[in-house]
Amino acid sequence: MSSNSIPDVRGRAKALDRDDPLSFTRSEFNIPTRAQIASTRLADPASELKTTASSDGDASSPCVYLCGNSLGLQPKRTPVRINQYLSTWATQGVQGHFKPLEESPLPTWVDADAKAAKLIAPIVGAEASEVAVMQTLTANIHLLMSAFYRPEINGRHKIILESKAFPSDHFAVETQIRHHGLSPETSMVTIKSPYSEDNVISTYDIMSVISTHAADTALILLPGIQYYTGQLLDIPTITGFAHKHGIFVIWDLAHAVGNVRLSLHDWDVDAAAWCTYKYLNGGPGCIGGMFVHSKNSLVTKEITDEKPEEGYRNRLAGWWGNDKKTRFVMANKFHPVGGAAGFQLSNPSILDITSLSASLEVFELAGGVPTLRKKSLQLTKFLEGLLNGMSEEDRKLFRIITPADPDQRGAQLSIALANNLLGTVMHELETRGVIVDERKPDVIRVAPAPLYNTFEDCVDFVEAFAAALQAGRDNAKSG
Ligand SMILES: Cc1ncc(COP(=O)(O)O)c(C=O)c1O
Repeated sequence: MSSNSIPDVRGRAKALDRDDPLSFTRSEFNIPTRAQIASTRLADPASELKTTASSDGDASSPCVYLCGNSLGLQPKRTPVRINQYLSTWATQGVQGHFKPLEESPLPTWVDADAKAAKLIAPIVGAEASEVAVMQTLTANIHLLMSAFYRPEINGRHKIILESKAFPSDHFAVETQIRHHGLSPETSMVTIKSPYSEDNVISTYDIMSVISTHAADTALILLPGIQYYTGQLLDIPTITGFAHKHGIFVIWDLAHAVGNVRLSLHDWDVDAAAWCTYKYLNGGPGCIGGMFVHSKNSLVTKEITDEKPEEGYRNRLAGWWGNDKKTRFVMANKFHPVGGAAGFQLSNPSILDITSLSASLEVFELAGGVPTLRKKSLQLTKFLEGLLNGMSEEDRKLFRIITPADPDQRGAQLSIALANNLLGTVMHELETRGVIVDERKPDVIRVAPAPLYNTFEDCVDFVEAFAAALQAGRDNAKSG
């Protein structure tokens, strides 16, 4: 680092951390030590690990974890709540479904999904009835499309998505189109930025593709935040524009939920889905979530055997989407509950919901997304400033591809590396106790999460990054 003098920026970072009203939430998390992330042995996290881990820093000090965009860290409440759940199961068996226990912070299992939906609703800006905690992200995208992509009904057959969509989203769209007997060649439209080599797509780019294909487009699937570039799309403007053309929009909020402010109901978003293992810290592969605007999930009429679909939007259904009042009557007549919950299939994993709900407690403690976003904007700007202040020699080896406008990004900065440096940089960062993630061919994604990251983490990262770039230069000289 050159224009950043380390003692100066570290002093500034320490002062910002001292003044941070949210600093208390860091202690709510298990932050792996440098020794732990270097270890190859299964560890009891409570006991101290003795390994010769990192080449830098104290092995027992916390690592620099800037990877909440991929997998959020474990809240300390998670094992506590999971043990309470295990104890309920061990001592109550099947009664855990319905029997409330004195002094238990956990809901009965039959109510666990509804309670978790209530906790998530303010995070996505929705009414509780518009949120369902269910399945996983890709499965939920498929379920939403099963209800809202119906080319055989109105002849609109095209689905618009971005050309660099997350592969799972791309596969979901392709296979939905085929599922309806159509061909992706004629029914799938991809948006590519005509100007940006990194495929940062402007709202204008998106609108012009929508305009071109408006007449026969049924549906648009877009990310709230693009996973590779970290770009935050203008959800309300794009949704409003699509609606003018009679097009339904589904948002993949994997990287947006718990990261940026969302007002799905007020923005008139049709439907959305997300995972909970990133900024929501639910744990790897944890249960996902779905939003369906109240206007799209109405159950308006008594459902008859003659016209079973009349009165509600058809969907792929399961018993957990049935009205709770008649769910256990076991009649073979599907009567969906109104709202997003009517799209559920199976009884959900209570282990997952317990894990997710433990983290949602921390969101409440922190004062919710508006408070977190305020700190997140500061943290990411601070990190960006440090990166931009690196030596000219370093600056030649990378560029930040995430938009510089804070309103067009969340916590994450994506850094594109030059000269095939990805492998070296990842290795060097890891040996220095820094965890970020890579997206091939040349990007590292660095995301300070306001719930547990500090300004000093940003300084530690940039210091290690400078050393990693130096190692890259040294390798090039010697190789
Ligand atoms: C943007 C995006 N969409 C979809 C997925 C797939 O998620 P899942 O494996 O939970 O279906 C991911 C996973 O990280 C993602 O980042």
